[in-house]
Amino acid sequence: MNASHRSSRVRLAVTVLTTALVAACLGLLGAAGTESLPRERLPLNSDWRFQKGDPPGADARDLLYDVRPEPRALGERPAEFTEAADKLGPATHPVLKPFVLLTGNRFIKDPAQRSARPEGNPGGSLSYVQPSFDDSGWALVNLPHDWAIQGPFSSSGGGGMGRLPSPGVGWYRKKLGIPAADRGRRIFLDVDGAMSYAAVWLNGQLVGGWPYGYASWRLDLTPYVTPGGTNQLAIRLDSPPDFSRWYPGGGLYRNVWLVKTEPVHIGQWGTRLTTPQVSRTAAAVDLEITVENESRADAKVTISTAICGLDAEGRPFGDSVAAIRPVTSVVAAGSTAVVKGSVTIANPRLWGPPPQRPNRYVAVTTVLDGRRVIDRYETRFGIRSVVIKPDGVYVNGERIQIKGVNNHHDLGALGVAFDLRAAERQLEMLQQMGCNAIRTSHNPPAPELLELTDRMGLLVMDEIFDVWVRQKTPFDFHLIFPDWHEQDLRAFIRRDRNHPSVFLWSVGNEVGEQNTGEEGAAVAKRLVEIAHEEDPTRQATASMNTAKPDWPFAASVDVITLNYQGEGIRDTPAFATTKGIRTPPQYPAFREQFPTKLILSSETASALSTRGAFLVPVAKETSGPVRDGSGGDSKSRQVSAYELYASDFGSSPDKVFASLDRHPFVGGEFVWTGWDHLGEPTPYSASRSSYCGIIDLAGFKKDRFYLYQAHWRPDFPMAHILPHWTWPERVGEVTPVHVFTSGDEAELFLNGRSLGRKKKGAYEYRLRWDEVAYQPGELKVVAYRNGKRWATDTMTTAGPPARLALSADRSEIRNDGLDLSFITVRVLDRAGVAVPRADDRIRFTIDGPGEIVATDNGDPTSFEPFQAHEREVFHGLALVIVRARPGQAGAIRLSADSGSLERATITLRSVRRR
Ligand code: GAL
Repeated sequence: MNASHRSSRVRLAVTVLTTALVAACLGLLGAAGTESLPRERLPLNSDWRFQKGDPPGADARDLLYDVRPEPRALGERPAEFTEAADKLGPATHPVLKPFVLLTGNRFIKDPAQRSARPEGNPGGSLSYVQPSFDDSGWALVNLPHDWAIQGPFSSSGGGGMGRLPSPGVGWYRKKLGIPAADRGRRIFLDVDGAMSYAAVWLNGQLVGGWPYGYASWRLDLTPYVTPGGTNQLAIRLDSPPDFSRWYPGGGLYRNVWLVKTEPVHIGQWGTRLTTPQVSRTAAAVDLEITVENESRADAKVTISTAICGLDAEGRPFGDSVAAIRPVTSVVAAGSTAVVKGSVTIANPRLWGPPPQRPNRYVAVTTVLDGRRVIDRYETRFGIRSVVIKPDGVYVNGERIQIKGVNNHHDLGALGVAFDLRAAERQLEMLQQMGCNAIRTSHNPPAPELLELTDRMGLLVMDEIFDVWVRQKTPFDFHLIFPDWHEQDLRAFIRRDRNHPSVFLWSVGNEVGEQNTGEEGAAVAKRLVEIAHEEDPTRQATASMNTAKPDWPFAASVDVITLNYQGEGIRDTPAFATTKGIRTPPQYPAFREQFPTKLILSSETASALSTRGAFLVPVAKETSGPVRDGSGGDSKSRQVSAYELYASDFGSSPDKVFASLDRHPFVGGEFVWTGWDHLGEPTPYSASRSSYCGIIDLAGFKKDRFYLYQAHWRPDFPMAHILPHWTWPERVGEVTPVHVFTSGDEAELFLNGRSLGRKKKGAYEYRLRWDEVAYQPGELKVVAYRNGKRWATDTMTTAGPPARLALSADRSEIRNDGLDLSFITVRVLDRAGVAVPRADDRIRFTIDGPGEIVATDNGDPTSFEPFQAHEREVFHGLALVIVRARPGQAGAIRLSADSGSLERATITLRSVRRR
């Protein structure tokens, strides 16, 4: 074909394409994964074989990732850390590391620093990696899979990692179906998260891996694949002891994908989309596309992009609203090219957190070789401007006070096995409270979490590390920070940068480097610089709990994010003398030092409580570290639910609100934490899960939920009374009553008699009747705002437990093997009043096409396995999580029985996947 023929072919293709691009969006999208398109992204989640431990006789030292350095001396190292380190001992030689490093090469900027594949094939002779190995005796599992949530709970050692067996070796095997027709295509394995130190063999050959358990990564399987033949995948994970300060989980706990492309294709996370100018009338969209040519010939390709609106469910609708002009480019054999384009969208529907709308778009990029479509790639995005000013975060010109929470990655009884519905439920409840932002403490979330925050309109402080060079536990990320920080950070930002919800990068949390002068600041600067290189549109921070304003660390980050430095020292003299390090609140000092930087509180409160545990009398307590007699009870290991107590470095929510209200230049807060998480059971190390959540591990609201709702949703009429009002042993005794309301005044009534009308004073966030003498009956509050009746709440004394009641968050679930129904179990008296201190043991049975996935009751001290089909209600409540069996439809009936109470049954419908 001569040159003129060639160019007319390109022209023709361009014409065909541009015409296509103004056509219906649904047609452009929905086609992925079909014959007609060369890119396929197939979920690789079903039917894996799983086994804990290495093959008998294998020497673990032959499978070590690296020499294990002796953990550095820690100032006050708990004995169990030292023991764990000693057990492993120093390793003799790096085995897997040189091969695993290869996987990160494309995220290292300086080519001289990238590694080359060494000779050899570690692990290649192990039985577990052989295609011929018979794994039929291994467990059959579907991903996402968390081996550790199966337990058992351990009663020895500290509770930091949740007392569950995350550490250890686990193997996963699966045969890949790669048809002969795939010859010539590129075959990639995309792992969204594997905990941890993953190493992957295909057909007995070590391909690569990735150590950081929260990273998402891709392996190019192409050189090892036999199209049309057997393709045996084997993945080994190896999590050391004491590698985390919370429950990390174990296994292939996020989605895994098989991606197939043509040799010339758009790269992994191969688009960068920005919206440099945004107004209500027009938005500029810039798109950079990285095209990789993995063939032996130069490729001349034409690239064009259509932009479509997405509806609230994330489905494209209507016709494309704009198209980026096609560009023709030659990509040399074996190289990559970056193609840029821009377009203006008239009258854009902007993305923003409430009260704005989370509108979204998708850019559909098509790569043509002549007339042949050789790739099609979607970039979901939102059009918004985020400007960080010294006094706050501005989204589309409007100042948004950050009303955020920290969230760990576990999903309670489901462990860390990612489940979209469970994550959505967490976010829905937080939004109901008025929360508008999430901090992903302290690691990259599942990719789908950001799809949810985009869709729901939550802002995200996207955080990657808890540790840099200086360790927090003996085997944490500090061991690999020098080798991996660049790859991890660049990969993280490339993965997440197109999400409109991400407004700030955090490269670290309370790292030891904040205290090491210029040396630590240099590490911070390097990480912030990488973040800027990967994403010049966003600022980057690292959260500080001890750094002082005039230390070098704070100067090296763009935004000042402080943990527990905003409220100042607590008012108990004992604390002031023993730990007096932070008085007064540090906001003014940081403001003075950095007048042009935004200050945010990235961790506040760390208030502690157990849902429903009212340990009275507590009327005189205002705050204070939890000690026996002041909020906590070390015998029962529960903390009082009056919501006045905090860890010794934290403060009650009321104090945090007051401090933020007194310092209005602070952009807002991220509460520690939104939901209870597994591990970190401060203040009772013998427990399994935390006390700091506003919502308990099972998803039941603690009273604190309403304190936040009252403050964060001032226009939502609500009032909430605490405690419960069933105290047969306290008749006549003083039993303080507190009310959380978005009103400014309220009157309390006991059995119709007024106990007085009270008004909130300046910097007061709750109303207190601390001298109420308990009498059974009805406690009622009427709240007012500006003198007008605003909201009411009633608490009624319950009689003896009589019956069980079940209610589902959703009574219809899809039978896709993923969707869940969360069912609340309540104990009621004869009249239907909830019995607040019931602790009956309940057995659950299920009929029809559904299964009980897990049960819980939110009790941080419970060691009942999460998979048990029986459980005690805790303070009157328990939770059952039900999933529909894949592909089966019909009625699912769940029944709850206890010996003495009237049983309850609920019917759910399993419906076909939409
Ligand atoms: C902070 C830390 C969090 C958590 C919290 C208390 O210092 O950043 O990860 O440990 O304290 O529970």
